Amino acid sequence: MQADVDSEVLRSRVTPLLQESKSKVGAPSGRKSPAKHYLQPLDATSLASWRALQMHRDAMQRFNMREAFESDAGRFKAFSASSCGLFLDYSKNLITGETRDLLIQLARECGLSEAIQAMFGGEQVNASEKRPALHTALRRPLGDRLTVDGRNLMRDVHDTLGKMTEIVDRIHNKLWRGYSDKAITDVVNIGIGGSFLGPELVSEALLPYSHPSGVRCHYLANIDGSEFHELTARLNAETTLFIVSSKTFATLETLKNAQAARAWFLSSGGNEQQLHLHFVAVTSNNQAAIDFGIREKNIFPMWDWVGGRYSLWSAIGLPIALAIGMTNFKELLSGAYAMDCHFLNEPFESNMPVLLAMLGIWYRNFWDAQAYAFLPYDHYLRNFVKHLQQMDMESSGKSIRQDGSAVSCGTGPVIWGGVGCNGQHAYHQLLHQGTALIPADFIVPVVSHKPVADHHQWLYANCLSQSQALMRGKSLREAEVELRAKGLSKANVQRLAPHKVIPGNRPSNTLVMETLDPRRLGALIALYEHKVFVQGVVWGINSFDQWGVELGKELGTSVYGSLTGFDPPSADDCSTQGLIDYFRRRHRG
Ligand code: F6P
Repeated sequence: MQADVDSEVLRSRVTPLLQESKSKVGAPSGRKSPAKHYLQPLDATSLASWRALQMHRDAMQRFNMREAFESDAGRFKAFSASSCGLFLDYSKNLITGETRDLLIQLARECGLSEAIQAMFGGEQVNASEKRPALHTALRRPLGDRLTVDGRNLMRDVHDTLGKMTEIVDRIHNKLWRGYSDKAITDVVNIGIGGSFLGPELVSEALLPYSHPSGVRCHYLANIDGSEFHELTARLNAETTLFIVSSKTFATLETLKNAQAARAWFLSSGGNEQQLHLHFVAVTSNNQAAIDFGIREKNIFPMWDWVGGRYSLWSAIGLPIALAIGMTNFKELLSGAYAMDCHFLNEPFESNMPVLLAMLGIWYRNFWDAQAYAFLPYDHYLRNFVKHLQQMDMESSGKSIRQDGSAVSCGTGPVIWGGVGCNGQHAYHQLLHQGTALIPADFIVPVVSHKPVADHHQWLYANCLSQSQALMRGKSLREAEVELRAKGLSKANVQRLAPHKVIPGNRPSNTLVMETLDPRRLGALIALYEHKVFVQGVVWGINSFDQWGVELGKELGTSVYGSLTGFDPPSADDCSTQGLIDYFRRRHRG
């Protein structure tokens, strides 16, 4: 298995496959396009491989990882994979070779190959919104062609990269001047959800690759005025550029913050005619941005064929490019492209996104695991879990399949987690001795960007020891021996030993990389994007819509009316009305 692959080799292997997939777009009617399989999902629970997995699960009830390792010195080698600068150890799982084979068989029977083709080929895999999901096109090389509805999307993608390069260079070279003719020193990304979490993750994760121009990037997401004030208190309107980042340009929090930023700019010395020096936008809704007051030439395109939570690779990534420079931004894209090629090409048995996805299915649907923990052992990955929460939970938090029927099994788990070693002193207690089975992914670089004495050796050691402790546990006998060795009395040993027992046999994966650089980060994020996609195929759900977020927003508008209106109609329930009254009493003029 190759560790790293250069783009020439990748392209020579990929393009023909994608060329073939491209030819399907707009295929004459009647030909069975791959998407149909995707649009009319099979009920995975009715498949032979699913039943076989249920029987296998019963047979695995007494499986013990510790014994498996003691009896098989080749287990680590057998259950690891690597590609794109990432090494995956999945040997600490409740699996045998048979488990993997059955899981891969299930993926095949669910039509995963066709679904992957359909997504990369630009089919309308986002059936409910009748849209392709082509975040992969954002990281494909210029030479590639991808025609959807007669339009070569790659032209648009690379024209936009060119437009990004132009503004990034002008700001880095201090050629973009503010209204008082000073260079821009601070950039504020005003955006929420996918127009915030990915860019924030990457620009923070790649701080060691910050551009020498020293332009500082800030993120303003929530509508809570405190966030606005805390941020603008540190800014100078003369040297601040705002990026209004919103695919729809219709998101309440973003529009309110953009209006507040404009008011702040105008009250800080700028005027309407100078707004274009301090406001640009990224959106697929040009007219709304123009109506807001953004000059057309300051609008960077976003497309409806890119999902918000998959959009950091587009101009939504402009704050990233300003933070790390276009060269590093393109490295990020190349890393993701390498993972796309691995996902497309690698046989499922050694295909990292497929392996991670099917292991997740194994625990979610056959071991009833309701949650999944992500434990990055890297300070620079402190926003990783937040991004994964949106990517995974907004994609897989579904109860309805693509064809509108109810799902027949559990879908997206609760995604949570945080940076190691901090978690060890917070929630790892539950991972080790709690009653819930919570699979976990550990992520750790071998080389630290900012080493301090032997701190990184300790960080890495703790990352490994945590997954080892989850796997090994500690038996009652081991606890008793240990307590006796410490000289405790028989009574105290009997009293204390049960509390020290750790069940163990708890699964985890460990992803290791040389260091966290733009290319490997790109590959890492794309790895999880594809993992989520694979699970969506097996569950038969649409990974690319998010209708569930609308009701709360709609009700938010009516509650706002009840909070601020002169004589508003009462709310539909006494709880909401009571809380409205509580607010109105406090704010009565
Ligand atoms: O409300 C959820 C959501 O639609 C996310 O899917 C999206 O990433 C976010 O809001 C922001 O949307 P926009 O980029 O259109 O402002």
